[in-house]
Amino acid sequence: MFIESLKLQNYRNYESLDLKLADGTNVLYGDNAQGKTNILEAIYLCALGRSHRGTKDRELIQFDRDEAHVRLGARKDGVPVRIDIHLKKGRGKGVAVNGMPLRRMSDLFGELHVVFFSPEDLSIVKNGPSERRKFLDMELCQLYPVYTYHLANYTKVVVQRNHLLKDLEEKPELMDTLDVWDSQLVRYGSEVIRRRREFTSQIAEIVGRTHAGISGGEESLRVSYEPNVTEEEFAEKLRKMRPRDLGARATLSGPHHDDLKFEIGGIDVRRFGSQGQQRTAALSLKLAEIELVKMRTGDSPVLLLDDVLSELDTKRQGHLLAEIRNVQTIVTCTGLDDFILKNLHIDRRFLVRAGNVTEISDTVIPGAGAAAGQERGS
Ligand SMILES: Nc1ncnc2c1ncn2[C@@H]1O[C@H](COP(=O)(O)OP(=O)(O)OP(=O)(O)O)[C@@H](O)[C@H]1O
Ligand SMILES: [Mg+2]
Repeated sequence: MFIESLKLQNYRNYESLDLKLADGTNVLYGDNAQGKTNILEAIYLCALGRSHRGTKDRELIQFDRDEAHVRLGARKDGVPVRIDIHLKKGRGKGVAVNGMPLRRMSDLFGELHVVFFSPEDLSIVKNGPSERRKFLDMELCQLYPVYTYHLANYTKVVVQRNHLLKDLEEKPELMDTLDVWDSQLVRYGSEVIRRRREFTSQIAEIVGRTHAGISGGEESLRVSYEPNVTEEEFAEKLRKMRPRDLGARATLSGPHHDDLKFEIGGIDVRRFGSQGQQRTAALSLKLAEIELVKMRTGDSPVLLLDDVLSELDTKRQGHLLAEIRNVQTIVTCTGLDDFILKNLHIDRRFLVRAGNVTEISDTVIPGAGAAAGQERGS
C-alpha cells in the first residue's frame, strides 16, 4: 500500500494543498511552525479517523472557517483507494471510502495502515503506563477493527460505572445496578485483555530480534504483557475489590490499568534502564511494529517519521533507515543536513513554508539545508 496524493482544504494552516507523493521516501522540510506535522496529521486522520495529537476535530479546521476537507489517494495491490474526510464545525465528521460514506468510524480502520513515529515515542518505555496502553490500542485498532468496538464499549462502561460509584452515596438504592455494569465490564474487558495478550506475544518475538540487532547481540530485551487482571479472574476481582471501589469511587481493576513490561537481563527497563537502553527499547518496539503489520496484513504500512531522525544517534539512525528501505516513508525535518542527504535515498523532497508546499528538485540543493535557507533545530 502506498499513498499517491493528499489534498487538503482549509485544514490547519493549509488553505489548499495538492501533494503528490513518491512510493519510496518523501522528505518534508522547513522551519518550525510551517505545517510539516500538519501534513502527517492529516494522513493519520485518514487512517484512524482522528488526530495523533488527540486534538478535537473542530480544531483541525482552519481558523475562521466552518469546514475542512481531506482527500487521500492511495494504491493497494495496484487498486486505487480514495479516502475522504469532511470536518464541519458543530457536526460529526463525514468519512467516505471510494465515495461510499461510512456509517461507523471503525469501518475506516484497515483501509490505510500507518505507523507514526515521533520523538515522544522514544520515551514510551520511560513514561507512564498510559502511553504504553495507547501504543497497544493504536496498533490493535488498525489490525483488528472489532477491537475498537470492544475498547470503546469497555471505556464507556468504566466511565458509567465510575459515575454510579460516585452517586451511590446519595442513592444507595442504585446498588443493584452495579452488578449489571460489572458483567458488561467483564464482557468487553476480557476481549481487550485477550487481544492485548495475543498482540504482545507476537510483537515480543520480533522486538527481541530487532533489539538484538541494534545492540549488536550484547543485550536481550524481553517484552511482556502486564495485565492488571486476567480474563478468568476479572469477575472475581471486581467482586473482591468492590468495597475498595466504593471507597475510592472509582474502578480500580481492569485493563484500563494494564501495562507493557520491558526487561533486559531481568532488570525492569522502565524503572532501572539507562536512558540509552530505554530509547533503544522504544526504537526496537517501533521497528517491530512495522514488521508485525507486514506479517499480519501481508502489506507494508506507511511510515510517518515526525522529526525523529535528529533525535537518534548515528547507530540508531542507521537501523531505522535500513528498516524503511521497502516501506513508503514520509519524513519531516527542519533542514536537509549532511547526514540526511548522504544516508537517505530521497525520492521526493518538499519545502514547507507557511502552509505552502513546493517540490524541490535535488539539483537545486547543492549540499546542506543552508542552501535552501533553512535552519535546524527547534
Ligand atoms: N486550526 C488551525 N488553523 C490555522 N492554522 C493552524 C491551526 N492549527 C494550527 N495551525 C498552525 O499550524 C502551524 C503549526 O504547524 P505544524 O505543527 O505542522 O508545524 P511544523 O512545521 O511541524 O513545526 P515544528 O518544526 O515546530 O514541528 C502553526 O503555525 C499553527 O499556528
Ligand atoms: Mg512538527
